[in-house]
Amino acid sequence: MNLRESLTIENNRLKIGSFYASDLVKKFGSPLYIMDAEYMKAVSSAYVKTMNKYAPGAVAYASKAFCSVATSKLLCKQGMYFDAVSGGELHALNRAKVPFDTIIFHGNAKTRYELEYAVVNGVGAIVVDNYNELNVIQDICEKNDAEAFVLVRINPCVAAHTYEAVQTAVPNSKFGFNVYGDALDFISGIEKKYKNVNFLGLHCHVGSQIYDASAYTQAIEIMTDFMVKLKDNGIECDILDFGGGFGIYYTNEDPKFTPQMYAEQLGRVCALVREKFKEKGLKDSFIISEPGRSIVGEAGITLYTVQGIRDAGDQHYVAIDGGMGDNPRHALYESQYEACVADKAGEKMDKISTIVGKCCESGDIVTKNIPLQEANVGDVIAVFSTGAYNYSMASHYNFNPIPPVVLVDKDKADYIVEPEGYEDLISRDVVPNWI
Ligand SMILES: Cc1ncc(COP(=O)(O)O)c(C=O)c1O
Repeated sequence: MNLRESLTIENNRLKIGSFYASDLVKKFGSPLYIMDAEYMKAVSSAYVKTMNKYAPGAVAYASKAFCSVATSKLLCKQGMYFDAVSGGELHALNRAKVPFDTIIFHGNAKTRYELEYAVVNGVGAIVVDNYNELNVIQDICEKNDAEAFVLVRINPCVAAHTYEAVQTAVPNSKFGFNVYGDALDFISGIEKKYKNVNFLGLHCHVGSQIYDASAYTQAIEIMTDFMVKLKDNGIECDILDFGGGFGIYYTNEDPKFTPQMYAEQLGRVCALVREKFKEKGLKDSFIISEPGRSIVGEAGITLYTVQGIRDAGDQHYVAIDGGMGDNPRHALYESQYEACVADKAGEKMDKISTIVGKCCESGDIVTKNIPLQEANVGDVIAVFSTGAYNYSMASHYNFNPIPPVVLVDKDKADYIVEPEGYEDLISRDVVPNWI
């Protein structure tokens, strides 16, 4: 466990802020996503402070990790910019009153509707990721008497050491213009062909859940070399966005970081970028980092209630009232988590257990063969580091409602996403009169 000031054990019980975890379940129900505001504020403000040392620059929170109106507002107050990847995320940011010129809009297959939403609301930059997109952007600009500002997503062809599914910069990636391929030609044509489109610079993202600093070192070397090549062709970049990807603590196989340590890691990358700009005779452009997981991942704790216990072969199953519907990461990546029985949190974990969900799938596993206290039916189980890519990847599989989200900030706890009822599950169902 990676305990901290806002995640403690007191009287043998797990406490989040000033609340015992099992009391939060009593008050708000189960299953329940908890987001720890204190932690999110600590990491995001440390990031912003560090980036200010390497100004000009910004830290854009990657909304895909966890997106809600309340948390967008909270992170905006810390001075964060935002990265959005869909019209839905743009809309949530709009509702949170995030200034649109602080938003970077991504996506390898944006629709016209999404691009129109971005352009009309004055998004800071669109990260262009295919040839067709610029035609659509130009047309939208002409029809709306608007201008668009674009970054171009570059694939630097760097294989970061992480799961294959979250590597994004391998040579055959679906993302980005290959730095050794058509990137130069594509960029050279932008301002010539598209009069309402302004080229701002470059973006890259090497992957997610990365601990290996060499992936960033390589990517920055390659990206700044490419900036030199562009400069030699008369094109200067005002912005270099080097993406997100910092890895977090899930189990004792991972390093433990404090908010300050995350910020120091960001600082090392920013320092390297500034050094490379200088060394290669490039101007001191605006730099952007896009962390997601490291801001919200460890802030999240999912609380479940045990519904059944079963021993089968070598497995001791603890069956809970949630599962792959609220956390598909084990099914997708075989991700592992640490967990505890909330009201026995201080006791020895001497029962190797597999926490399974309620879906009709053998693969509905939250975490496998982990040490846990002896769990009984009715106990509250806390699963840690579930703030990133859990709620945002949740589904209604088996027609289970997606759990509500409660934000805890020291002695305050409130819903930021309210509970769904069964009626919500069928609220958009319609029955054609020919049935
Ligand atoms: C373009 C881009 N930026 C930022 C991120 C955020 O990465 P992470 O949550 O690992 O920090 C991602 C995630 O995959 C991404 O695709």
